[in-house]
Amino acid sequence: MVKRTKRKQHSLPNTSAEGPSRLQILLRSSAFVLYALVSIAALGAAVWSQYYLRTTSSSQNISTSPLWEIVDIPGKGKGMVARRNITQGTLLLRETPLFLVPPTVRQSPEQLIIALVSQLPLEKQQVFDALSHHARPDAVGDALPLAKFETNSMNAGESVGIFPTIARINHGCSSAFNAAYSWREDTKETVVYAFKPIFQGEEILISYTDTKKSRDNRRAYLKQSYNFDCTCSVCSLSPELSKASDARLERMAALREKLATWANKSIGGQEATSVINEIWRLGDEEQYLSERGALAYDAAQVAAAHWDRVAAQAWAELAHKWFAIELGVNSVQAKAALRIAQNPRSHRDWGSRYKMEVERPIAGL
Ligand SMILES: *[C@@H]1O[C@H](CO)[C@@H](O)[C@H](O)[C@H]1NC(C)=O
Ligand SMILES: *[C@@H]1O[C@H](CO)[C@@H](O)[C@H](O)[C@H]1NC(C)=O
Repeated sequence: MVKRTKRKQHSLPNTSAEGPSRLQILLRSSAFVLYALVSIAALGAAVWSQYYLRTTSSSQNISTSPLWEIVDIPGKGKGMVARRNITQGTLLLRETPLFLVPPTVRQSPEQLIIALVSQLPLEKQQVFDALSHHARPDAVGDALPLAKFETNSMNAGESVGIFPTIARINHGCSSAFNAAYSWREDTKETVVYAFKPIFQGEEILISYTDTKKSRDNRRAYLKQSYNFDCTCSVCSLSPELSKASDARLERMAALREKLATWANKSIGGQEATSVINEIWRLGDEEQYLSERGALAYDAAQVAAAHWDRVAAQAWAELAHKWFAIELGVNSVQAKAALRIAQNPRSHRDWGSRYKMEVERPIAGL
């Protein structure tokens, strides 16, 4: 079915280059691939070598699982459906890419993808060929592999890769998506977690883009970037309910922008954590539960910067809980949050701002 490329967006008040919030950009999206490939072709310098040979050999056929199956979904092509009740925080699958494309290359994108596919073992070429090119329906001949790549590629750290099974997972907006994928640099694979409970027979959905936007904006973007008309449960709400949802999502987006201004000292720690609690409350109302680990981790950073050990610990514990649910308990993000929870003063920003008490989380653990 229609696919995505990963996104990046709203930057939280994360000032550290290696902090989890930054890694968390995996959870957000933009039309990165297309953009990257087009701009890449114009760039002179190549980072060729290692990447092209990085094709992995370990991915067996993982298109089946006791937890889910790939089935035809009326109006949507293929999709992934739960075969049993799945609890929140369950690892749904892990997948290594067929191949990765680095952020910078110098060959024509079309030829590059053709070359990468031709280096794959035959059965993997067949897997690639079976992918949809929905985002570029008119592509033919030499343009076809690139069209498939653009339709199905996902961010994988600094690179962009093809993950044939994950590519079968359809998109849902706001409260409709129930799973999230993230790249693991250590094992060079993408993992997908159910961050909400998913019932038997329910479709498993991820989000191809940031959906904290009004319905009209979301649908226009999805149509333009992925060439489909979103009919997820949130896009199908009645006008009245949709309006209420839009208002919450736009408010969440505006609050995140405000939160980001803590980094340049436009707002203080008390206000920043109050904003985070407000985003959390709106998330409960909307049932938008994604990105909570990063949000709580940002709050822990704010608390640590303002010397508030108790608040930093509470937020870091909350961050650990939600990172574990959405990215896995052994993710670098969950581990980093746990370290801060155990010793808030070890945060690299500890005491870097004036002393103040900030808000504690409204959410319990
Ligand atoms: C799944 O959960 C629902 C709701 O709690 C329950 O009614 C149903 O029996 C469960 N199904 C299975 C197979 O456990
Ligand atoms: C901080 O960033 C915000 C939003 O980008 C901007 O409006 C504001 O002027 C900046 N403040 C300072 C002190 O740089």
